[in-house]
Amino acid sequence: TYLGLDIGTSGVKAVLIDGEGRALGEASAPLSVSRPRPGFSEQDPAHWWDAVLKAVDALKDRHPDLVSAIRGIGLSGQMHGATLLDKDNKVIRPAILWNDVRSAAECAEMEEALPALRQIAGNIAMPGFTAPKILWVKKHEPDNYAKIAKVLLPKDYVRFLLTGTYVSDMSDAAGTLWLDVEYRGWSDDLLAVTGLTTEHMPALVEGSEPSGHLSPELCARWGIAQTPVVAGGGGDNAASACGIGAVEPGTGFVSLGTSGVLFVSNDKFRPNTEGAVHAFCHAIPKTWHQMGVFLSATDSLNWFSKLVGQDAAGVTAGVAGNFSGPGEEIFLPYLSGERTPHNNAAARGSFVGLSHLSDSRTMGQAVMEGVAFAVRDCQRVLTDAGTQIDTLIAVGGGSKSDLWLEMIATNLGMAIAVPEDGDFGGAFGAARLGLIAATGADPKTVCTKPKIEKTIDPRADLKSAYDDQYARFRALYAGIEEARA
Ligand code: XUL
Repeated sequence: TYLGLDIGTSGVKAVLIDGEGRALGEASAPLSVSRPRPGFSEQDPAHWWDAVLKAVDALKDRHPDLVSAIRGIGLSGQMHGATLLDKDNKVIRPAILWNDVRSAAECAEMEEALPALRQIAGNIAMPGFTAPKILWVKKHEPDNYAKIAKVLLPKDYVRFLLTGTYVSDMSDAAGTLWLDVEYRGWSDDLLAVTGLTTEHMPALVEGSEPSGHLSPELCARWGIAQTPVVAGGGGDNAASACGIGAVEPGTGFVSLGTSGVLFVSNDKFRPNTEGAVHAFCHAIPKTWHQMGVFLSATDSLNWFSKLVGQDAAGVTAGVAGNFSGPGEEIFLPYLSGERTPHNNAAARGSFVGLSHLSDSRTMGQAVMEGVAFAVRDCQRVLTDAGTQIDTLIAVGGGSKSDLWLEMIATNLGMAIAVPEDGDFGGAFGAARLGLIAATGADPKTVCTKPKIEKTIDPRADLKSAYDDQYARFRALYAGIEEARA
């Protein structure tokens, strides 16, 4: 069997598959985020490890024979988070996460210090990425900065505890802003901007290649006789793409998780820094991908649900029960600033067009639509980069709402496929990468598409109403941010 581990923001998930790629069992353990100041988002790496042990121990309790037969392990994880280790491998401070926006000033400083930054990195310096976080630490916590011996991404810190090796994979490394994304190697120039060298970096492998072996202690703990190989794995988006079969050019997915993502696989490196597109390496060799990332997808709905004292499923069901197209309210989902397409950490959310008739249903609808418009913004800038999106599959918790997907399909003007078993997160893709690393199988024959349960088509009757509402949504961003500046 093969194990996939996803170190997510809201929890760790472990999935077991067999040699045919069939899911055999899963377990998970929750995580929480600490927000010590506005715009800050941190986690204690020790909690990731506790959650990994909890999830795999639970799998072992449920399926001892399947766990003892594990031959390959793959890792997936929330991208960009900065885990700082000192020379004794001790964690120096809480990890600064992907959705932390404290380092906007440092991003500007990096671009000024190295004018070729966007060309080499293929990406804008955005506060979500790893490198500017280190520059923030250098400026605000010089004692911590002086202690840095290694910087690891969340799943790579877990890998270190699993195998004792310092390794990252190309897809996750692409999100650090230290990688030359086209040439798939660390860039001395990019590292130098943050005062670091390749000494501070892990070794690099492709996501489908071996990166080390499970330690003897953990083999004993989980009753595994034949030491499993641990694959490079991937950032959660690239790993999810391996799980959903988005590895051929033009295939993609739309993910409604904490953050929202529009992901498309590319045959070559295709940057579009103008539109704040992420241009990264894929988790399989000689493949790249682009994505538009917006920071608050289900996070927007969860925030609103809490505010009105309902659960998120209750809000979406209420909206679906009385839906006839866009209403008066418009919501801008910029609760924690925005990456694609605005690259504006200081942006904030808004409700516009409220009246005496506004209530949790009409405003809940506006929240769902605001997220749909954010996906449409991503589609616009990916298309501007010359990318053709041929197929899209829906993933993530928000994809359980057909109405939400229909709003998105209508706005994108393309159908969205929904897989039979909705659960194709990073853990499943990671398990596939574990299988490939252990067996040498061809990534493209393993990373196939799932069975499709249904296809959500655009609503032709609502197209022009949504075109108009989207135009208002875009105009509002510009007007509101000008007034707030
Ligand atoms: C991608 C990003 C998020 C995280 C979520 O750039 O920041 O999608 O990977 O885990």
